[in-house]
Amino acid sequence: MSRAPAASGPTKAVVLISGGGTNLQAFIDAVREGRLDLTLAGVASDHPEAFGLTRARRAGIPAECVPRKDYPDAAAFDRALAERLAAWGADLVLLAGFMRILGAAFVERFEGRTLNIHPSLLPRFPGLDTHRRAIDAGDPCHGCTVHFVTEEMDGGPRIAQARVPVLPGDTAARLAGRVLEKEHRLYPWVAGLYAAGRLRCRAGVAYLDGQPLDEPLQFGE
Ligand code: GRF
Repeated sequence: MSRAPAASGPTKAVVLISGGGTNLQAFIDAVREGRLDLTLAGVASDHPEAFGLTRARRAGIPAECVPRKDYPDAAAFDRALAERLAAWGADLVLLAGFMRILGAAFVERFEGRTLNIHPSLLPRFPGLDTHRRAIDAGDPCHGCTVHFVTEEMDGGPRIAQARVPVLPGDTAARLAGRVLEKEHRLYPWVAGLYAAGRLRCRAGVAYLDGQPLDEPLQFGE
């Protein structure tokens, strides 16, 4: 069951990262500039060196590393992470370059309120190395997708996509850079829809304004 944002005050979002955190920075900037009405209640990383932790601390957001190696198994790690999120009062969990697969107990606990951004036009290219795969497949168009998180990796209900043309002579790095720019606009926009109470997930279906999203929204600009 999805859960509405806390009755009092803005939605409390927690961002999970493993690396550089440019999507996290996009959230920080959007909130600071008044384009995104939510509170960034915390940032957690499984990796102590993740630069996103520094970005969070510079912005005055509580930031913590939860290292996988501190726990005997994946389930114990997931429990510790979930407890951290609960302590921050998370209404919404935003996966932004978080490189671990979350298990059933975590997914159920935050079901309908966990989003992920993936650098491809899902269902095309779940998993890694998406930009190289799009070029090798000769796809004329690539992009990114925000979706609700389910147990199936990169397989939850899609919410919105942004498209990026694949240009002649593109390298994976160049294409990734252009996709990332789109991610930075797409993800805060979708998080804003959730925070405004317009986006929900029930029984594996994403809804916008009460209407099922049979196809993901297409993000222009
Ligand atoms: C992004 O490409 C995102 O789509 C993927 O991981 C990358 C994270 O980049 N899930 P950053 O850490 O936000 O810069």
